[in-house]
Amino acid sequence: YPLKEPHELSWSFSGPFGSFDKQQLQRGFKIYHDVCSNCHSLNLVAFRNLGDQDGLGFSAEQVKSLAAEYKIQDGPNDQGDMFERPGRPSDHLPAPFPNEQAARSANGGALPPDLSLLAKARGPERGFPWFVFDVFTQYEESAGPDYIYSLLTGFQDPPAGVQVREGLHYNPYFIASDALAMPPPLADGAVDFPQNGDDDKTNDVPQTVDQYARDVSAFLMWAAEPHLVERKRMGLTVMVFLIVFAGLVGYTKRRVWANTP
Ligand code: HEM
Repeated sequence: YPLKEPHELSWSFSGPFGSFDKQQLQRGFKIYHDVCSNCHSLNLVAFRNLGDQDGLGFSAEQVKSLAAEYKIQDGPNDQGDMFERPGRPSDHLPAPFPNEQAARSANGGALPPDLSLLAKARGPERGFPWFVFDVFTQYEESAGPDYIYSLLTGFQDPPAGVQVREGLHYNPYFIASDALAMPPPLADGAVDFPQNGDDDKTNDVPQTVDQYARDVSAFLMWAAEPHLVERKRMGLTVMVFLIVFAGLVGYTKRRVWANTP
């Protein structure tokens, strides 16, 4: 297991110069918001994180009004009661279920995992210069945006002779088995992307399962690795520094020893 290796996609954030595509992340967030958040939590992401300039890049005002659309459980107050209030930028995204039992009972006994770290980098997405070590780790059983994309687009009828248990859905990309409890979550046209006027091309992408899967996988990659771009930038700076420094050291050595017979 899995029956099939994930597809290898080319992501905007792959490679030493890669960075996140803001528009793609914003679309991915909308997909998470409209679809995935009905079952999956994203515990490690706070609303204020959606304002990261290397990430979704929402303005402070946008973050505030976005957070305010959510109802957050708070309390106890002075009377000892729990209460609901509008979200604030410092709040984390609320989970769809109050606890594991509730989550399981709504999903036929299966637990929808928290998506915060599900995309923890696998293979070529690990960033500069750590991909050097991918030679040793590429067979590791870890998730990644390739995996999430493949899983979301991989639902299909079971081949002849394969029995799938009631309540499970055949998917050869699922890492733990050949079927999982999640029903195919995406459908063509299911999520509308906002258009900022007629001549706005930023969200001019096909509204298909394939595109949704790419966008939400990229968003989950950002959620899992919000400092990816910063890290790559630093890695590059360090490499340039080391190369220049090595040159200087070499040159100095030749100067110092130049007159040695
Ligand atoms: C499992 C992603 C929507 C219920 C998973 C897994 C991923 C995922 C990647 C597999 C984790 C693993 O390998 O262990 C997503 C994304 C969604 C989405 C990106 C939105 C596009 C939903 C929805 C539901 C749901 C709407 C509920 C109707 C579940 C359940 C599991 C699961 C119950 C556990 C399956 C099992 O262990 O058999 N999801 N999901 N998901 N998902 Fe989703």
